[in-house]
Amino acid sequence: MAHDQKKSVLTEQQVAQPTSSKNTLTINDNRTGKQYEIPIENDTIRAMDLRQIKVKDDDFGMMTYDPAFMNTASCKSKITFIDGDKGILRYRGYPIEQLAEKGNYLETAYLIINGELPTKSQFEDWTDNIMKHTLIHENIKKFMDGFHYDAHPMGMLVSTVGALSTFYTDAKNIKDPATRRLQIYRLVGKMPTLAAFAFRHSVGRPYVYPDNDLSYAGNFLNMLWKMTEVKYKVNPVLERALDVLFILHADHEQNCSANAMRSVGSSHVDPYSATAAASAALYGPLHGGANAEVLYMLDEIGSKANIPAFIKTVKEGKGKLMGFGHRIYKNYDPRAKIIKQLADEVFEVTGRNPKLDIALELERIALEDEYFVKRKLYPNVDFYSGLIYQAMGFPVEMFPVLFAIGRTSGWVAQWEELLMDAEQKIARPRQVYLGHGTRDYIMMGKR
Ligand code: ACO
Repeated sequence: MAHDQKKSVLTEQQVAQPTSSKNTLTINDNRTGKQYEIPIENDTIRAMDLRQIKVKDDDFGMMTYDPAFMNTASCKSKITFIDGDKGILRYRGYPIEQLAEKGNYLETAYLIINGELPTKSQFEDWTDNIMKHTLIHENIKKFMDGFHYDAHPMGMLVSTVGALSTFYTDAKNIKDPATRRLQIYRLVGKMPTLAAFAFRHSVGRPYVYPDNDLSYAGNFLNMLWKMTEVKYKVNPVLERALDVLFILHADHEQNCSANAMRSVGSSHVDPYSATAAASAALYGPLHGGANAEVLYMLDEIGSKANIPAFIKTVKEGKGKLMGFGHRIYKNYDPRAKIIKQLADEVFEVTGRNPKLDIALELERIALEDEYFVKRKLYPNVDFYSGLIYQAMGFPVEMFPVLFAIGRTSGWVAQWEELLMDAEQKIARPRQVYLGHGTRDYIMMGKR
């Protein structure tokens, strides 16, 4: 069992019972012959406890070196649990499968942010407060207009969500719970509007204002696709599918963008600026951009007949099977399973995405191939999501934008948890300095 994958989310009850009554780690420093006993809490040692390990009294003390945080828990969290070996994902203890089947996105957002599922009246208040904040200031529209016609919608989203901080200057008051709550309503409420406006700008269509008679996902679809009709009719299957996709993307513990949200938020900046940073992290192809890569790959393969040759090139190290493999999941990504089922429902409405057959065959062949089996490479969330988005009419550039809408609830939950955590301070890693020692300045003419 890969303990390192679970450290950040283990609760006290879940930690394996020690075989001896002593919950400590003994370290022998072979440089000095000294021994240190370090407490273990939640299957973890505190890096600061290593600082006492020194050769000389005036040494700085021992640190850990962990590029990319491969084995470092940066926080204690009660939001999301992942067991990568078993393919388990839970928000606040609730399995993702149950939330996707029985819940809806705003209810899930409430759960993630508040810790419990809402009662009927709590849900109504919550929905009302979020939907009340879907409108954006008219000047934001002017910012949108300033972007070039082919600007990437994710670039527009990153910029405009950051710009919200200049409209809501009260947001700086991050220590006040009521102020924080208001910004959370605004952020969850306005992200779909910013996303839809960015899309409309990129296709040269007039902006459609929010319609709060519609659901969260339905309103988003209306803002995207409404043309000259008086009332756009939202397709209930697509509305539900999008809502489920938002649920599946709502949080994923300390991923790259959540870490950006926490790291930037730890400076006590307003949440719009921190969300802009998190969105920027998500923009990267290694994070929110992989589902687009899957589509490019399926295009390149072209037909089922070409799959064996493609797999051969992957095994020769000439490229990756995009949408396969995950840093945490060494089993089928539970989100990918749900998306695969959802695809059938969506394709009944939109018509089958012809790339699905290639994807299904690719998955079948890869899951039987020793290369992938040995390395525990399974489909991840991105393997099928792009096929659905494309069938629904979204251009590839919108894929990370859709991800950002769903993930906003996770980002703000992570941000608030950080602010409430008395142990947290401004995020400031250490480094191992390997550069020059001190040296004297040389005048330019003498270099
Ligand atoms: N296709 C072929 N081989 C792969 C793949 C893949 N998709 N993923 C990993 N491998 C191989 C590696 O080459 C390596 O082989 P080796 O041991 O012979 O050197 C082994 O499996 C282990 O892979 P790592 O790269 O060490 O795994 P890591 O945890 O660093 O990477 C990652 C995870 C980045 C997701 C990787 O699997 C990958 O690039 N997948 C394709 C891109 C993708 O789908 N990304 C989306 C992730 S989900 C998300 O972010 C929302």
